[in-house]
Amino acid sequence: MAEADYSKKEKNYHTGIPQKSEAFFLKGSNAYDWGMKNRLARIFNPKSGKTVMLAFDHGYFQGPTTGLERVDVTIRPLIPYADALMLTRGILRSVIEPSVTNSVVMRASGGPSVLKELSNEHIAVDMEDALRMNVSAVAVQVFIGGEFETQTVNNMTRLVDMGMRYGMPVLGVTAVGKELTRDARYISLASRILAELGASIVKTYFVPDFEQVTAACPVPIVIAGGKKLPEREALQMARDAIDQGASGVDMGRNIFQSDAPVAMIGAVRKVVHEKVGVKEAYEYYLDMKNK
Ligand code: R5P
Repeated sequence: MAEADYSKKEKNYHTGIPQKSEAFFLKGSNAYDWGMKNRLARIFNPKSGKTVMLAFDHGYFQGPTTGLERVDVTIRPLIPYADALMLTRGILRSVIEPSVTNSVVMRASGGPSVLKELSNEHIAVDMEDALRMNVSAVAVQVFIGGEFETQTVNNMTRLVDMGMRYGMPVLGVTAVGKELTRDARYISLASRILAELGASIVKTYFVPDFEQVTAACPVPIVIAGGKKLPEREALQMARDAIDQGASGVDMGRNIFQSDAPVAMIGAVRKVVHEKVGVKEAYEYYLDMKNK
């Protein structure tokens, strides 16, 4: 039982100080409930408003991707530098220590392998299991213009409904099939559809005129890294994306396939969180690589 308040100190209700009620820092996210906002604030740094998400979920359709043959060996050293880890529940349970404090964005769609039609995905994780693993968001691939477009849109909207019930943000990934052109017109179309249908975060590719994509998308956009580029070019892409309205990166191969992955993720952090220019970030990369 709590003891009675015997303090002799005079009570102070700070009556002259109005209670603060500040808008949530993240674009388009002010209307969510507390739990959803708290999860988003674990992914996006509330100070910079940005995130460095480390993507290593590639195995869910392409098996042991180059650089991910042994996630325990190659990814573990990078974990302290990532705000969020994007992975599958298989890797989370089998490889990642439960003591890590990074937020987790868990792949929640899947089905076909690289040997089949990739857009034929279904929901691959139950919301209850995502909650059990204490993740901060679930991620779903949506193939706008793809063969199974409607099915993948339906995967996302079902996850959004379940996510709203439990305060779980859904990250919608605009998956681009081989036959589709990656340009601002297509990426704007796909990103906007995902946001309109309830995605709390959209992950898409950086394209020329990217500011049109971010302007037309009412929720935060993070960019995928895509195929491995020379480090300086990858840093330039991150810089351009942030300057044109992206809220962060969800980068995989350009980090874990780098010659110096720890140096590279450190340089990416500088670009994303510290507003550092490409020259300085690349010099940091080279310094760290040569240490
Ligand atoms: C691909 O489907 C995976 O979901 C990756 O998370 C995504 O492509 C980002 O990784 P990367 O930077 O290697 O493109």
